[in-house]
Amino acid sequence: MPTPQVPSSRGFYQALLFLALTIPAHIHALPASPRSTNQVNDESSGGTLRGSLSLQGQIPNEVDSANSAVVSPYDMAPGQDADASLGIPFTWENTDEPQPIRGSYGATDPGPQTYAYSKLNPDIVAPPISDKGSVDNPKWPMELSHNRILPDGAGWARQENTDVLPLASEMAGVDMRLAPGAYRELHWHSASEWAYVLNGSVRVQAFNENGQAFVDDVQTGDVWFFPPGVPHSLQALDQGCEFLLVFDQGDFDDSGTGMISEMFLRTPKEVLSKNFNAPLSDFDDLPTDELYIFNGTPAPKLSAQNTTGPGGVVQGNQSYTYHLSKQSAYEVPGGNIKIIDPLNFPLASMFSAALVTIEPGAMRELHWHSTSDEWGFFIAGEGRVTAYEPPSTGGTFDFQAGDVSYVPAMFSHYIENTGTEDIVFLEVLKAPEFTDISVGQWLKLTPEQIVKDTLHLPQSLLDGLSPNKQYIVQGDKNLTALAGGSGTA
Ligand SMILES: *[C@@H]1O[C@H](CO)[C@@H](O)[C@H](O)[C@H]1NC(C)=O
Ligand SMILES: *[C@@H]1O[C@H](CO)[C@@H](O)[C@H](O)[C@H]1NC(C)=O
Ligand SMILES: *[C@@H]1O[C@H](CO)[C@@H](O)[C@H](O)[C@H]1NC(C)=O
Ligand SMILES: *[C@@H]1O[C@H](CO)[C@@H](O)[C@H](O)[C@H]1NC(C)=O
Repeated sequence: MPTPQVPSSRGFYQALLFLALTIPAHIHALPASPRSTNQVNDESSGGTLRGSLSLQGQIPNEVDSANSAVVSPYDMAPGQDADASLGIPFTWENTDEPQPIRGSYGATDPGPQTYAYSKLNPDIVAPPISDKGSVDNPKWPMELSHNRILPDGAGWARQENTDVLPLASEMAGVDMRLAPGAYRELHWHSASEWAYVLNGSVRVQAFNENGQAFVDDVQTGDVWFFPPGVPHSLQALDQGCEFLLVFDQGDFDDSGTGMISEMFLRTPKEVLSKNFNAPLSDFDDLPTDELYIFNGTPAPKLSAQNTTGPGGVVQGNQSYTYHLSKQSAYEVPGGNIKIIDPLNFPLASMFSAALVTIEPGAMRELHWHSTSDEWGFFIAGEGRVTAYEPPSTGGTFDFQAGDVSYVPAMFSHYIENTGTEDIVFLEVLKAPEFTDISVGQWLKLTPEQIVKDTLHLPQSLLDGLSPNKQYIVQGDKNLTALAGGSGTA
C-alpha cells in the first residue's frame, strides 16, 4: 500500500505549476482580436456566435450516448472505501485521479476538475458524513495571498484579512520576509501587533510615550508585541528572517500603516526645518516615496544600538519581546505545548497563544474557546479540523503548512494529524488568558448519571476519562487498518 511521503508544500507547488501551465493555454484560446458582441455572424471565422432558435426545447433522439460520463478505472485510496459513518482520514497523495467518494457515498467526477486541489482537500471533496450544512470557510493558504515583492531582493509581504477570509473578523495575519540587513521601515498603526518568528533572526526596535527606547534581537520561535501607536522598526540579521504578524483587527491592511518616509513627504519642508532646527538643505535627500521594506546597512552588535532615554529602560513587564524559543515545552503523550499569554508576557494584554506540536496520528483534543475566536497558523505538517457550529452545522477542512485557520468562539473543534510529520500549530486568542473548554474534562467532571442518561456511553469510557485537560490525545497512526478498509483499483 502506498505510504504518503511527499511534503505537503509540494502539493501547492503542483497546484501553482498547474495554474502556470494552464493559464497561457486559456489565453491562447481567446480570439486573436476583439470582436463586437453585437456581431451575430463572422464570415471570416467560418462559424456562428449564436445558434438557431430551433435548438430550443424537445429534440427527439438528440442525446448522444457516446458522450456519457464514464470514469474508469479509478483509484480508491487506502481507507476511502471504509464505512463512511466512521469518517476516517485518508490521503490522495498517491492517487492519480481522486474521486469524490467515501465508502458507499458519493460518485465519480467526470470533470472539470483540478486534481491538485482535491489532493490537498480530501475531507472537503469527500467529507465525513457527520458534516452537515455549510460552515463559513475557515481556511486561507497564505501562498494564495497576493504577494508584495520589493525591489533589490529586499523581501516580500503577504497578508490574510477579511478581504480573503471574511469569517476572520477579529484578527488578521501578515507573513513577511526580510533579506539579510533589510528593514521593515519605522512605522506605527492603530492595531495591536503580536508576532512570531518563523525563521532566522531579527532586530526589534521601538520607542514609547514615556520617552523610553527599546531594542532586542529575537530568533526563530520568539515573540514580540507592540501596543497601538507605538512606533517600531525591524531589521533582519544574519541570514534574514521570516515572521508572522497577528493583528487584533480583522480588516487590518499592512499597506495602510503610518510610515516615517510618508510622514516626512507629507510635511512641508519649512515645517521640518523649523521642527528639527535644521537648514532646508538637510532634507534634500529624503526618500521620494515610501520605503516599506528596503535594504540597509547590516545591524551592528545589539549593545551599540542600546539607547537609554530620560524615561529609563524598557524591561520586565514592559518589554516588547518574549524569548519563547527558550521556554521549555509542556510534554504530553502525542506532543507538547507552550503557552504564552499575559500571565508570562503581560505587555501583550489581549493576546494569548499556544504553540502546539502534534505527532502523526495524535490530535489536539476536542475543545472550544469560550472567550475568543481562534486565529491559527500551520507552521509545519498537515491535518484536519472539524468545526461544529452550534446548533447543528459542521464542516471538516484539511490544512497544510502555510495555511491560516480561523475558528469562531463557541465552535467545537480538534486538530487531527493526518500526515507523516509533526504538526506545529500556532493558536492565537484575543483574550487576557489562554483558556479552552476541554470536552473530555467536561464529561469527566459532569455527574455520571447525567452523561449516561444523555449520551448512553458505557461506564468503561467514563472510567477512562481524565479529570485534567489533555491538550493532546494520542492515536493510532493508521486508522485505515483499524477500520478494516483497504485500497481497491
Ligand atoms: C494503513 O493500513 C492499510 C490497511 O492495512 C494499508 O493498506 C495502508 O498502507 C496503511 N497505511 C500506512 C500509511 O501505513
Ligand atoms: C529556515 O529556513 C531554511 C531554508 O528553508 C531552513 O534550512 C532552516 O532549517 C530554517 N530554520 C528554522 C529554524 O526553521
Ligand atoms: C542596554 O542598556 C541597559 C541600561 O543601561 C542595560 O541594562 C542592558 O543590559 C543593555 N543591554 C545590552 C544588550 O547592552
Ligand atoms: C508583572 O506582571 C505580572 C502579571 O501581570 C505580575 O504578577 C507581576 O507582579 C508584575 N511584576 C512587576 C515587577 O510589575
